[in-house]
Amino acid sequence: MKIGALSLPTPYILAPMADLTHAPFRDLVAEWGGCGLYYTEMLNARIVASSDPARDSYCAVGTKDTPRAAQVVGDDPAVVAKAFEKLQGLGRFDLFDFNLGCSRGGPARYGWGAALLNWPDRVREILRQARSVLRAPLVVKMRIPEGEGNGLELWAERLAQWGVDAVVLHARSRRDLFKRPARWEAIKRFKSVFSKPVVGNGDVFSPEDALNMMDGTGCDAVMIGRAALMRPWIFADLSHYAQGGGVPEPPDAGAVVARYAELVATRFDEHEAVRRLRLFAFWICQNFSYGAHYFHTACRAPDLWAMVETLRGFLSRERVPDYPVRPFLM
Ligand SMILES: Cc1cc2nc3c(=O)[nH]c(=O)nc-3n(C[C@H](O)[C@H](O)[C@H](O)COP(=O)(O)O)c2cc1C
Repeated sequence: MKIGALSLPTPYILAPMADLTHAPFRDLVAEWGGCGLYYTEMLNARIVASSDPARDSYCAVGTKDTPRAAQVVGDDPAVVAKAFEKLQGLGRFDLFDFNLGCSRGGPARYGWGAALLNWPDRVREILRQARSVLRAPLVVKMRIPEGEGNGLELWAERLAQWGVDAVVLHARSRRDLFKRPARWEAIKRFKSVFSKPVVGNGDVFSPEDALNMMDGTGCDAVMIGRAALMRPWIFADLSHYAQGGGVPEPPDAGAVVARYAELVATRFDEHEAVRRLRLFAFWICQNFSYGAHYFHTACRAPDLWAMVETLRGFLSRERVPDYPVRPFLM
């Protein structure tokens, strides 16, 4: 699987997830056998363009998380291009992504992310300026455009003309949020009219789902979000399964939490490490029927290591259930 000149070791990609896919988490995924491409958290173009990304923990990278994609969100063509140029200058990233998918929080309020799908001229100018500064592959991650008709086909045509090297399609519209299931048929439609690689995304909850998405839609690669937060080892399971080896026995989730804590503790101060552990614990606890109780109890622990011990006490006692994962946040 290639995007532009970049070869991915596997067609299985870790999704960008704000506050969660930081360098320590990506290294954790890598330690479990790794994926084909690791996305950063979404990076705010204004912040990257106006500060020194070399000193910004959001732009930090791990030791094993390669190849890497940096995702930028914003709406001002010059600012977005400046941000890409600075990120490229760090020499840490192999691919750059422009966010046309976010539909929550600050970016949604500013009219960034998926809202830009209503402003194609603006997107064209952003991509033109981005292309002019980038040597590495340029990708957009988008949602299904809103409204009936051929919006998806129109966007495929535009994006091919505007020089993107691949598209990640999260198969929901802006208004869907997570409230309705992903519409994989949209990935199939997009793939049938877009000549470059298409990465399918949305509701892959098991290794079997990933292969079904590829078979059913013809997409070239699969991106996994929530299931990778719940099971950072899912990419190893997926590679094993794709080679006909079945799904391996799950690891001890308590030990995975402990390793995550070690990794965040080496990169962040105590306060930030605790915040990041809470965010991860929210997801990994969702593997278990009493996960909400485990999570809330752990959040009352006085420090990072007490929190780890509490989580280990709960999680190491239980076997991780078989796939599919069932995230609360749907
Ligand atoms: C907590 C969380 C944070 C996310 N942050 C981002 C982000 O920063 N950029 C982005 O393009 N998508 C973001 N997404 C969307 C995911 O990348 C992905 O498109 C979505 O979760 C669907 O994939 P899944 O069904 O495998 O989870 C986020 C999703 C979640 C759950």
